[in-house]
Amino acid sequence: MMDWTDRHCRYLHRLLSKRALLYTEMVTSPALVRGGARHLLRFDPAEQPVALQLGGSDPAELAKAAVIGADEGYAEINLNCGCPSDRVQSGAFGAVLMEDPALVAACCRAMIAAQPVDVTVKCRIGVDDQNVEETLPEFLSQIVAAGVERVTIHARKAWLQGLSPKENRDVPPLNYDLVFEMKQLFPHLHISINGGVSTLEQARDLLDAGLDGVMIGRAAYHNPVDILQRADAVIWGEDVGPDPVQLVLSMRAYIEAHLADDLGKMQPKLSQVTKHMLGLFAGQPGARHWRRHLSEHGHRAGAGWSVVEDALAALEQAAA
Ligand SMILES: Cc1cc2nc3c(=O)[nH]c(=O)nc-3n(C[C@H](O)[C@H](O)[C@H](O)COP(=O)(O)O)c2cc1C
Repeated sequence: MMDWTDRHCRYLHRLLSKRALLYTEMVTSPALVRGGARHLLRFDPAEQPVALQLGGSDPAELAKAAVIGADEGYAEINLNCGCPSDRVQSGAFGAVLMEDPALVAACCRAMIAAQPVDVTVKCRIGVDDQNVEETLPEFLSQIVAAGVERVTIHARKAWLQGLSPKENRDVPPLNYDLVFEMKQLFPHLHISINGGVSTLEQARDLLDAGLDGVMIGRAAYHNPVDILQRADAVIWGEDVGPDPVQLVLSMRAYIEAHLADDLGKMQPKLSQVTKHMLGLFAGQPGARHWRRHLSEHGHRAGAGWSVVEDALAALEQAAA
């Protein structure tokens, strides 16, 4: 998720769940291949498995970007066919690609041929006035014929005119039934559902009902403890992740290494990591004090680990 699931966020989330597959923000293939945006690919091996999400619509360029991603060590290369923002429409990628399944298939074919890592697709059920009962099966059959074996379907249309990207995540109605129909039609395709899942119990029900995976976006970011800390236990029957205080303490070495990092022109800042930690105590007594201390002090020049310790102290004091 753009501006959210950067490498610091993923490092934190991986401490909470060993099993969940994590995704990068979308990186466009032109930025990677022509713009030299290699720094966007940087990640800590501890984050694995991580899928690199690419945006683009030029098969040759996407193939080059996929090679770069595979060389960096990503576990999966995912093509974005769901993002509705204007910028993305003007570059002819994202959700607008739902109208051109042959082009998406050509992109996937080129990416698959160029490198050894799995190529997957994240798509919508359709866009605008498409008759999704017809167009979605056509889209899926073309990408399956190109060699794609896993897809994540955001179970609502994107409306390319008149809605903001934010509205496009809430306004078009969810249609889970259609995703289940696709599972019937394509039993060998690994299908994950996305959109509006806010609890692990809901995710468990969708898996029990026959889907292969569930992608959780906003709820995992805003309530990482509710979703990711319990995910390994509820979904995979393994151990729960660390409690939030333990988690915060185990971020110390990472934060100190980040603050000592040489980022060229950019100064490393505490808030680049701690902005992803604001929701760790959501719903608990003192959570407001934790958030406020980190928000007020985390971005200041020279802010270091002691700010996090003080925020924990503020939380504990308020909770006592
Ligand atoms: C801030 C933000 C940024 C997003 N960026 C991306 C992105 O880069 N690529 C993508 O496929 N989806 C992106 N999305 C959409 C989510 O992946 C997801 O499809 C959507 O939020 C619906 O799922 P949810 O209800 O579980 O959040 C973004 C969503 C948000 C809120």
